[in-house]
Amino acid sequence: MRMKICVLGSGYVGLVTGTCFAEMGHEVYCVDIDPKKINLINNATSPIFEPGLDELLKNNIEKGRLKALLAEDFYSKKIQTDISFICVPTPSNEDGSIDLKFIEKASEDLGRYIKSLENYHVVTIKSTVVPGTTGDIARPILEKYSGKKAGQDFGLCMNPEFLREGSAIEDFLNTDKIVIGAIDKKSGDLLEKIYEPWDEKVHRIKTNLRTAEMIKYAQNAFLATKISFINEIANICQRNGVDANEVAYAIGLDRRINPRFLRFGVGYGGSCFPKDVKALIAASEKSGYIPRLLKAAEEVNKQQPIEALKMAGGLNGKTISILGLAFKPNTDDIREAPSIKLIHELKKHDTKIKAYDPQATENMKKILPNITYTDSPLECIKDSDVCFVLTGWKEIKQLEPKDFLNLMKTPIVVDGRRVFDPEKMKQLGFTYKAIGYGLT
Ligand code: UGA
Repeated sequence: MRMKICVLGSGYVGLVTGTCFAEMGHEVYCVDIDPKKINLINNATSPIFEPGLDELLKNNIEKGRLKALLAEDFYSKKIQTDISFICVPTPSNEDGSIDLKFIEKASEDLGRYIKSLENYHVVTIKSTVVPGTTGDIARPILEKYSGKKAGQDFGLCMNPEFLREGSAIEDFLNTDKIVIGAIDKKSGDLLEKIYEPWDEKVHRIKTNLRTAEMIKYAQNAFLATKISFINEIANICQRNGVDANEVAYAIGLDRRINPRFLRFGVGYGGSCFPKDVKALIAASEKSGYIPRLLKAAEEVNKQQPIEALKMAGGLNGKTISILGLAFKPNTDDIREAPSIKLIHELKKHDTKIKAYDPQATENMKKILPNITYTDSPLECIKDSDVCFVLTGWKEIKQLEPKDFLNLMKTPIVVDGRRVFDPEKMKQLGFTYKAIGYGLT
């Protein structure tokens, strides 16, 4: 059944959600307050870097299934829709707790919108929010501004996303599961209809609002903890003459552990894991429980860039090259990237810093304008004393061991992502160190 959908917020999650729903045959309005974004989207140009998104945008705009609208236009035209998805940011407050100001504003706007609607409409929160937000924060605001009652006059759902930057389209269209938290059966059934085009083998988990909210946090907290766990093991391996690669491979073969999210290195970054772990810690403490394991996972992660730094030896007077700035490959996103922490630490020493990233340079220039950015990895490592490899981009993986030997002044390579084969690097006789590589 083709349904009419509005998606509030055309950022990363909103745009991918809207475009994928359109691709599955629904009629979608992507709504945002930023006129620049609206123009770009209507011209089939994604404002964010995400593989495959431009083509899908083009396809669905041409077929008339997707349209971007400024929020004020969407509301003033009183366009009727069956369901709305709130996809606004949920940043951190200073103390790490979740800042819900955008959720509150979106709820107010949608409250006014559903006041004027004649049809039954389901409001759905897709943004990551701590347990209780949909029912205790959004619901009263929606009711106040609509003059209607949730669970009676309109529906209310929470439907978390599990999208990775860089493979968000694939993750959306080929998801493992669809989590539907609903205030009542009617709301949940209507939301489930949107997902009818997905294979019936995809698990549909129908639950209440709080559980749906918690599932998203528990999943991100688990994955972040899994990474910190393997980072800690790698740190121990390195000091005990053990190659953590072999250890991670072997333990990953146990089906209870599995090999994914077992890559050790300079730690996790991005807009989700760091923020969500902090928000869950804050929510947990607020409810009276000190989450020791989550705090430790966060602490290990903060230290990982420092682990790399320690491996470089003396830094004063040296030229440092940094290969990779984005928090992971295939994205221009530098939020909470380990590179930022490492560069700030390097700046405490008398160093000259050169950096290369195929996509993230422009974003990095905005926060760190006073380092040298190069257009190629070779130019970056040229004449440097120490090279830190921080993101596993293919452009960086393509470098040959001899490139470091030929171009660097005193080749010391610290591989923070195990991009290179230690044996091949060491054959040439220069200093190669990698997190988790103990056989130096
Ligand atoms: C993450 C989750 O994977 C998504 O399921 C979730 O929907 C999303 O957060 C979110 O909450 O919106 P994302 O932040 O895009 O997605 O990136 P990931 O691919 O999960 O990587 C996160 C960080 O962990 C990166 O810095 C990456 O380098 C690091 N990582 C990942 C490791 O250090 N080791 C690994 O084995 C895997």
